[in-house]
Amino acid sequence: MGKKISRILYGGDYNPNQWPREIWKEDMQIFRDAHINSATINVFSWAKLQPSEETYDFSELDEIVDMLSKEDYDIVLATSTGAVPAWMAKKYPEVERTDYEGRHHKFGQRHNACPNSPVFQKYSAALAAKLAERYGSNPHVKCWHVNNEYGGTCYCENCEKAFRVWVRKKYGTLDAVNKAWNMEFWGHTLYDWDEIVAPNALSEGIGTEKTAFAGISIDYKRFNSDSILENYKLERDAIRRFDSEAVITTNLMGSYKELDYFKWAKEMDVISWDNYPAYDTQPGYTAMQHDLMRGLKDAPFMLMEQTPSQQNWQPYNSLKRPGQMRAQSLQTIAHGADTIQFFQLRRSVGACEKFHGAVISHAGTENTRVFREVQQLGGELEKLGDVILGSRSSAEVGVVFDWDNYWALEYTSGPTVDLMYVKQIYAYYQYFYQHNIPVNMIPFDADFSKYKLIVAPVLYMVKEGMKEALEKFVQDGGVLVLTYMSGIADQSDNVYLGGYPGPFREMAGVWVEEIDALSPEQTNRVRFADGSTGSCSLVCDLMHLEGAKSLGEYAEDFYAGMPAVTENCYGNGKVYYIGTLLEESARGKLFSYICGNAQIKGLAETAPGLEITCRETETHKIYFALNFGDEECRLPEMFRGQKDLLTGSVLAEDTVLKKFDVCIVQVEK
Ligand code: GLA
Ligand code: ZN
Repeated sequence: MGKKISRILYGGDYNPNQWPREIWKEDMQIFRDAHINSATINVFSWAKLQPSEETYDFSELDEIVDMLSKEDYDIVLATSTGAVPAWMAKKYPEVERTDYEGRHHKFGQRHNACPNSPVFQKYSAALAAKLAERYGSNPHVKCWHVNNEYGGTCYCENCEKAFRVWVRKKYGTLDAVNKAWNMEFWGHTLYDWDEIVAPNALSEGIGTEKTAFAGISIDYKRFNSDSILENYKLERDAIRRFDSEAVITTNLMGSYKELDYFKWAKEMDVISWDNYPAYDTQPGYTAMQHDLMRGLKDAPFMLMEQTPSQQNWQPYNSLKRPGQMRAQSLQTIAHGADTIQFFQLRRSVGACEKFHGAVISHAGTENTRVFREVQQLGGELEKLGDVILGSRSSAEVGVVFDWDNYWALEYTSGPTVDLMYVKQIYAYYQYFYQHNIPVNMIPFDADFSKYKLIVAPVLYMVKEGMKEALEKFVQDGGVLVLTYMSGIADQSDNVYLGGYPGPFREMAGVWVEEIDALSPEQTNRVRFADGSTGSCSLVCDLMHLEGAKSLGEYAEDFYAGMPAVTENCYGNGKVYYIGTLLEESARGKLFSYICGNAQIKGLAETAPGLEITCRETETHKIYFALNFGDEECRLPEMFRGQKDLLTGSVLAEDTVLKKFDVCIVQVEK
C-alpha cells in the first residue's frame, strides 16, 4: 500500500492561503525545527477553489500541495465543504439552514449548510470529486478530511420533505406513525403524510431542550444525523472513485450530541476528533472522551485538532500550563491515538480566531514557550512512532454509550431536569479511571462476550434486541450494572407497561414502583449491609425485591428501609441495580465490591494519583504513567527498572512523577 501511514502524524490545520508567499517559506523552516511532518490543508477554501458556479481554480492549492510534497509531508487534505461560498448562498438560498426558531439564515459563518439541499449535495460532491481527481494520485495525500466538524440541525422545507420520506420508509403507514409517536395524546392524529412538520420551536418544541412529543423529536434527531451522514457519504464516495488508498475521515467532537457517531463510524475508515478541554475539564473526563472515540471503531484514532495552548471560544481561555500540552498529548496517545495534530500551525491575523493558540504565535518566531514545547513533543513523538503504531487497547469492562438514549433521556419531561446523559455516564466511568481499570466505551450492539463487566448507566430506552443480548451476557456469566432510569421506554419513547425497569425487571430481580426526584439541595442516605452510609441524590427509585438481594437501603424519608442497591443472580452471572446516584465514595465502595465479584483488577493497584494505561502489540505491553495531580507520585512496580521511552533512562525504584510528568515503558509479554 503506497499510502500506508508509517509515522505518528504531527502537525495540524495549516492555512497558507491566508498568508503571503514569503511566509510559506518561513513556515517550512519553523515546522521542520518542530519535527512537524503533516499538515491538514484546504479546510475552508471553497470560495477560492470555486469562485463561481462554472469555474474552478486550483492554482494556489497546487502550489501548497507541491510545497508540502517536496518537504515530504503526510498531507491531510480537506474537502473545504464546511463553509459554503457567498455566491452560492446568494444564488441558492436553500443551501442555508432554517434554525430551531424557524428563521432562514443568510450567508455567514460555517458548518451550516442544509444537508437536504440538492444544490449543496451536488456541489459538495462535485468539489470532493475534483479534488480527488487532481490530488488522489499524489502519494503524500495520505488522508482525506471531509467537510469539518459536521453538526447542527436544519428545519427548512427541504428537510421537512425529506423527513416525511424518512418517516414513511421507517413506519410504512400513518397508523404506525400515530402509534409510535402516541399521537392520540392531545389529539395530534395525522391523516396525511404532509401533516408531518419538523419538530422545532414552532411546533412540538418546549423551550430549546424539551419536546411535547419525544417520539417525533427523537426520530428527527435520527433523521438529521442520517441526513448529514449522507452528505459525508456523498463526498466519501466521490473521493473513492479517484483514490482507492488514502484513509477517509471527518473530524468528530467526542460526545457531541447531535450525531449518532456509532452509526457514523461504520462509514469512516478511521475516527478522528478534536479535543478542546476547558481549563477546568477533569483529565478523567478527557480520558472518557478519548475512550469513546476509540470505542467507535474499537481501533486507534487520530487526534485531528487540539490547541497548543490557548483557545478563543471558551468563556475563559487560560493558557495551557508548561508541560500540560505535552501531558495531554501523551494521554491522547495513551488512550489510542496514532496522531497529534493542532489547530492551528500559524495564528490567524484576523476574524474570531485571532486569539486562538497556534504553533507559531503572532510574534512569528520560534522564540516562544509554546513553540519550544511543541518542538520537544515533536522530537519525542518521532522516536515513539515505531513502538506505538500498530498497538491496540483492550479492556474487560464495557460502558454502554448510546445516542438514542442520550436524546431520549434528555428529552423527557420529568422526573428531573438534572438528568444529563454524558454526566451520568461519566459518574460511572470515573471509578474505573481512578483505579486504572481500562474501559471500552461500547455501543448497544457490541459483542458483549468480550467483557467480564458491563455497565449500562441510565439505559432508559431499550431498543430491539438489547434485552436479549444483555440477558445472554449475564446468563453466560457476565456481570451487569444497571441504574435508575433504566428499562423505561421503547425506541419511540413509549413506556414498557407492567412496572419498571420493564424488560430488565426479571434479570434485575426488582420492581421499581415510583421514582422520587431530589432537588439540588436535597439528599437521602443509603445504609449498607456493613453499617456504613453514603449520601445520595438526583433520583431515588422506590423498589421492591423480586428475588434480588438488597445491598443497601434508604435511611431517610418515608421510603427509609426500602432497598436502594441490589444484587441478583441470573443464570451464571449477576445483575446489580443501583436505584439512586450515590456520592463518589459510596459509589467507589460499591464498585470495588462489584469489580471483586467480576474479577476485574486495575493495571496498577498501587499508584494513587497516577493515570496508568496500556496499549499492546502481540509481543509487548506499552505502559503509560501520567500525573495530572498536584502531588508527586511514585511510579508503580511495573515501571521500575524499565527504560523510559521518552528519556531513554532507566527508571529507578524511587522515581517520582511531578505534575504533568509522563513515563512510557515497553514490557515484553
Ligand atoms: C474547531 C474547528 C477549527 C477551529 C477550532 C478552534 O475544532 O474545526 O476550524 O475553529 O475549532 O478551536
Ligand atoms: Zn434543511
